[in-house]
Amino acid sequence: MLASSLAAAGLPCLDLSARAAAGPGVLARAVYGAAVRGDALANDPAYAEAVAARCRTIVPEGSLKWPVIRPNRETFDFGDADRIAAFAGRHGIGLRGHTLAWYGGMPSWTDAITSRAEAERVLSEHIERVVSRYAGLITSWDVVNEPIPDAPSSPGDLRPFVWTRTLGADYIPIAFRAAASADPTARLVLNEYDVEFAGARFKGKRDALLAIARRLVDSGVPLHAIGLQAHLFADRSIDRDGLQAFLREIRAMKLDVLVTELDVVDVSLPGDVEARDRQVAEMARAFLSAVAEVIPPSTILTWGISDRYTWVPTYFTRPDGLPNRPLPLDAAMRPKPLMAVIERYTRSAS
Ligand code: G3I
Repeated sequence: MLASSLAAAGLPCLDLSARAAAGPGVLARAVYGAAVRGDALANDPAYAEAVAARCRTIVPEGSLKWPVIRPNRETFDFGDADRIAAFAGRHGIGLRGHTLAWYGGMPSWTDAITSRAEAERVLSEHIERVVSRYAGLITSWDVVNEPIPDAPSSPGDLRPFVWTRTLGADYIPIAFRAAASADPTARLVLNEYDVEFAGARFKGKRDALLAIARRLVDSGVPLHAIGLQAHLFADRSIDRDGLQAFLREIRAMKLDVLVTELDVVDVSLPGDVEARDRQVAEMARAFLSAVAEVIPPSTILTWGISDRYTWVPTYFTRPDGLPNRPLPLDAAMRPKPLMAVIERYTRSAS
């Protein structure tokens, strides 16, 4: 197993759940990390140096997803993920895993799964194989990612995809139980986006997420934390009261909170770089301060570390054609005001 061979080589594993004790009025310090791309780590030394210098944990942006690991039913391809794990090991950086059950980009061979028994077997076997490979090394997993539709019709509404079609809502506890059985020490996370904004659609998202968490907790399913993705949009506002009420419910369930994919989509902001970077940082500050007041997050990850590598322009290009600036380092790896905001809440390695 990869974990045992890295451990045998004396490579450290960080406890991502560790949190500095915070006295009254003192900010608890989260672990800082970022989503990383294996090809960029291998081929771009400036990027690799920035990741190694600033991150205490990393998560593969795509290398652990089903389409990469399971190109077909018979094959498991861990090449990309293993290279990222080796990078983390070399640099003494912790590792998170993303993700085990997600509707996004499921390989087409899974369309042929139609029976409940087969679905349960394929999902559980996949999770057991992947989680046990990195047991002790990946200490925190986004087990279920984005289960809720963009505009849920009710708190029980779930996204249609292979696992809801075959297993209904049960795919969620099945996934968490399989992950816990493969690595009983891993922290298991339910990860979702659009939880923080003002508006009925976002309130619906919070209600649906609470309903899922409650069902899991009430039935003794091993759920340890809620992941707030926090893809923030500069033209929306943070519903501070709504978000904090949501977080108080999470706290009452004794769950931890992680910020898992922070970035700020800047399409609506002015072109001027200074003004734009300031507003991006302010958006993140408004969000992080609201969260930290109720539950200081144990981990804060951005979805990428540098504007050189970001998913944002794939979906959100700016009308003026300028490059997006959603992340804490600019394309030349220089820190932006967003990094200063994040550093208020984190123990970064820098
Ligand atoms: O690797 C292929 C490459 O061989 C091919 O030439 C190229 C052509 O399009 O595609 C490459 O794969 C792309 C992959 O990113 C690697 O860059 C996929 O098409 C593309 O769909 C994939 O997008 C990722 C997306 O999730 C879907 O998996 C984004 O990078 C990644 O940032 C994004 O991450 C998601 C989180 O998992 C969940 N939350 C939202 C977040 C942002 O959308």
